[in-house]
Amino acid sequence: MTIFPSSTQEVPLVGDVPNHIAIIMDGNGRWAKKRFMPRVAGHKRGVETVREIIKACVQRGVSYLTLFAFSSENWRRPQEEVSFLMQLFLRALDEEVAKLHENGIRFRVIGDLSRFDPQIVSLVKRGEALTAGNTSLTLTIAANYGGRWDILQAIEKMLACDPAKRSGFKEADLAAHMALNYGPEPDLFIRTGGEQRISNFLLWQLAYSEFYFTDTLWPEFDAAALDVAIASYRRRERRFGRTSEQLQSEDSQDQVNPKAARENA
Ligand code: IPE
Ligand code: IPE
Ligand code: MG
Repeated sequence: MTIFPSSTQEVPLVGDVPNHIAIIMDGNGRWAKKRFMPRVAGHKRGVETVREIIKACVQRGVSYLTLFAFSSENWRRPQEEVSFLMQLFLRALDEEVAKLHENGIRFRVIGDLSRFDPQIVSLVKRGEALTAGNTSLTLTIAANYGGRWDILQAIEKMLACDPAKRSGFKEADLAAHMALNYGPEPDLFIRTGGEQRISNFLLWQLAYSEFYFTDTLWPEFDAAALDVAIASYRRRERRFGRTSEQLQSEDSQDQVNPKAARENA
C-alpha cells in the first residue's frame, strides 16, 4: 500500500492546483426554500452540481475529490428527508457509476456502510471494484461518515491487525487505517452554504488543509465558483509550522538553483 506523506511528520510538496479537494456540499435545503420548493428538490438539484464539479476537477488536474454527502448526524433529520436522500444515493449509484468508469474515474465511498440498505452496499462495492484501476480522478463520497467514527474505526482496525499496538503506537500506525488511507490529505477544504464549521467531517485529515468558506448554496456552486476557491487557495502561504522568512529563503535558493526547483516542483 502506498504511504502518503503526513503533514505533521514532514513538510508536503505544494503545487498550484490542489491535489486533493474536500467539500462540504451544504445549502440544498435553503436553495429550495428560497424557491418555495420542498427541501428535497434542493438535494435533487445538488446532484447536478456534483456532476459539474467532478468534470471541472478532472479538467483542472485535481487528483482527489472528496464530497460529504451524508453525515453520521444526518440521521437526525425527518424520516421522509432521510428516505429521499437514500433513494437519491441509490439512483445516483445506479445511473452514474458507469459514466464515472467511462471517464476513467476511480470511485470510493467512506463511512459506516452497516446502516445502509444492502442494495446500496452492493452497488457501492460493485462500483468500487469496477473503477478500482482508474487513474484520472479519485472521487470519494463520504456517506454516513463522521470524523470521530473514522478515528475510532481506525483504532479498532489497527488493534485487530496488531494487538501488540495496545502498548503503544505512532501516528503512521493509525493513519494506515483511516478511511482515506488511499489518498493524500486534502489541500483545500471548501464549505458552501455560509456555515463556518467542520460538522464532524475529516477531523484527522484536515490538520493542515486550507479552509475556504462561501455563502454560495451548493446547487448554485459551479466551475467558476470552484475557480474562485482555487484562486484563493493559490494566494495562501502554506507554512506547515515554519516561518514566512524560511519559505522565502527556500524560494530564493530555488531561483539560484533552477534544477533543484524543478525537481522539487
Ligand atoms: C446539504 O444541504 C446536504 C445534506 C446535508 C445531505 P442541507 O440539506 O444541509 O441544506 P441546508 O443547510 O438545510 O440549506
Ligand atoms: C454537513 O451539513 C453534512 C453534509 C453536507 C453532508 P449539515 O447541514 O448536516 O451540517 P450542520 O448540521 O449545519 O452542521
Ligand atoms: Mg445544511
